[in-house]
Amino acid sequence: MALLIHSEQLRGLISLDEAIAAVRDGFRDQGEKPAYSAPRMRIQHEDRRVSVHPGGCYRLGVAGTFVHVERFTFHGGAQQYERAGKRVYVAYDSETAELRTIILGSLPLFAFDSDAELFGTETAITSAVGTDILARRDCRVLGLYGTGRQARRHLAAICTIRPSIEIVHVYSRSSENRREFVRLMQPHAGARLVAVETPEEAARGADLICCATGSNVPVLFGKWLEPGQHVVSIVASNKGVLMQGSVSRPRREFDDEVISRADRVIATLKEQAVVDEQADLFEPVAKGIVAWNDIGELGELAAGRIHGRRHASEITVFKQNSDQGVGFMALAKLAHEKAKAARIGIEI
Ligand SMILES: NC(=O)c1ccc[n+]([C@@H]2O[C@H](COP(=O)([O-])OP(=O)(O)OC[C@H]3O[C@@H](n4cnc5c(N)ncnc54)[C@H](OP(=O)(O)O)[C@@H]3O)[C@@H](O)[C@H]2O)c1
Repeated sequence: MALLIHSEQLRGLISLDEAIAAVRDGFRDQGEKPAYSAPRMRIQHEDRRVSVHPGGCYRLGVAGTFVHVERFTFHGGAQQYERAGKRVYVAYDSETAELRTIILGSLPLFAFDSDAELFGTETAITSAVGTDILARRDCRVLGLYGTGRQARRHLAAICTIRPSIEIVHVYSRSSENRREFVRLMQPHAGARLVAVETPEEAARGADLICCATGSNVPVLFGKWLEPGQHVVSIVASNKGVLMQGSVSRPRREFDDEVISRADRVIATLKEQAVVDEQADLFEPVAKGIVAWNDIGELGELAAGRIHGRRHASEITVFKQNSDQGVGFMALAKLAHEKAKAARIGIEI
């Protein structure tokens, strides 16, 4: 029997530590058996798109897909969701080939997200997995770009993996949004949140820099970076809208100098960056600033097949360039176990 779960029913049942550990295991499986995984596929018409994330985790024994549909808009150099439908997980037991669970909606991993905002909750978990492996353990200052859904979740996920963080410098373009973010999120944060007036102030003196914006233009510039910092960035691609002529430039969240100054660059999946022509990686490679062979992947890193940070003074970059099916399937397995233990869901 498979279990049909409304994700809202899982509220309070999955801790961030558990989610991060599960997604790390999913990527470890991908690093060991990459052929059991494929990049996220996206189809698009005007402002409507469908995304499908297939993945199989051979050790976890789970395989299937995660699907979502959105409509989006552009205002002032940024991309916003106008509508986002309920995400759906379809997860099978890969040993018996039996359907194990269908989960309706992203997982409610963050107490501050309302049910209406239950989409994209998994992204900060993937970011936390790579950041946990790459960032120094003694990080005290976080520079955070963005004050929206992803920024809130990245704040929580990063402070979970680095409880040593004492102060967070928050920047987004609107001073009102910065103030509101601090007011809303301070009760949920162990660190002190401080809104800063300029983007440079968020990066200067930070140990860890998180770009969690919807920007289409660089928010972080390499000239601001300092030795020992770790950067994580989530903006991916707008290839479809670019091909339709609705925008004139591919999306960026940082400039080329971030890559040229980095000692180690890791992507969630390089093939995704190639297929989508994701400019934060694609353009520096095209310009000869870095070679694809010099960029590692999260799966290889989680499997211990490649090195991460080698020295405290190195600058590391994790381009979290798209959540992957393996992460979603690892979360589906965890959610299914939690639902069974709590006797929730409908047998189908
Ligand atoms: N990599 C992945 O796996 C993945 C998965 C899901 C989503 N994403 C990305 O996450 C992005 C954000 O999603 P969301 O749900 O958090 O959107 P959101 O709630 O609309 O928030 C976007 C934030 O970006 C800020 N922003 C925009 N331009 C900026 C700039 N130039 N400098 C500083 N801040 C800027 C906005 O604040 P102000 O208006 O105040 O500047 C806002 O706080 C999406 O566009 C999507 O590309 C990535």
